[in-house]
Amino acid sequence: SSCVCAVETCISLQSLSGQYSEWTATRRLPQALIIGVKKGGTRALLEFLRLHPDIRALGSEPHFFDRHYARGLAWYRSMMPKALDGQIVMEKTPRYFVTVETPERVHSMSQDVKLIVVVRDPVTRAISDYTQIISKTPNIPPFESLVFKNHTTGMLGPLWIGLYAQHLERWLAWFPRTQIHLVSGERLISDPAGELGKVQDFLGLQRIVTDKHFYFNKTKGFPCLKKPEGSSKPHCLGKTKGRTHATIDPEVMQRLRDFYKPHNQRFYQMVGQDFGWQ
Ligand code: A3P
Repeated sequence: SSCVCAVETCISLQSLSGQYSEWTATRRLPQALIIGVKKGGTRALLEFLRLHPDIRALGSEPHFFDRHYARGLAWYRSMMPKALDGQIVMEKTPRYFVTVETPERVHSMSQDVKLIVVVRDPVTRAISDYTQIISKTPNIPPFESLVFKNHTTGMLGPLWIGLYAQHLERWLAWFPRTQIHLVSGERLISDPAGELGKVQDFLGLQRIVTDKHFYFNKTKGFPCLKKPEGSSKPHCLGKTKGRTHATIDPEVMQRLRDFYKPHNQRFYQMVGQDFGWQ
């Protein structure tokens, strides 16, 4: 519409300003990371945060600090989306939370990086994890024999990931508590706008993602986005998010609850917050 017209060129001012951002945007190392936990709701959180104009997030999981560390920080930076000054660059790799070498490595990149962990009832998390594993490898043993297979450690299979206090302790050796924000995976489903509000505060951003962005999709049984980034149609997360869980024998459930109980209590004490897991 508004054009600067020379004899042979007519440049739309809008495309010019888009081009300008493209030139001034640079690739930077992330200032915030979603470090865990697997099956906590990490994809939902990242997709919701992406609605914020001051966030630039990598779509895939780069696994830099756990798997590709030898490739170096220059490689890691090259993976990041371009961002303008003032925008926060972030990525999510849920495995960071549970890998022993990661906190020190993250710290050596930046001691100011903000860390976000989505935590969910470890029993539900384990079942969700198992549901995902069985969808990829249908012939694995039943849940109960898998989780309680190794009686000496009692924590083979997907159970060890749910020992949140143990994992968090390693991060707290490198980062102050104030630099780690915990998102309730349960509330991310029941009140996504509320949880997103707190995350935006933590990141020092204006609360732009609000309840106006969400609607509850009854068929999916989860909150979905009214208008995702770059689209005008409503959007739910894919089929692999929000799967129907296998029914687990109540006795096995009780064993799992008993197993996690002391660990959950220790976690609540450590973070000063009761997540109310039964
Ligand atoms: P289930 O598929 O077991 O229900 P992650 O992205 O970390 O792998 O976590 C997946 C989990 O995110 C899902 O586990 C689901 O419960 C949860 N989740 C949270 N908000 C969601 C949403 N809006 N849509 C779909 N799944 C969501």
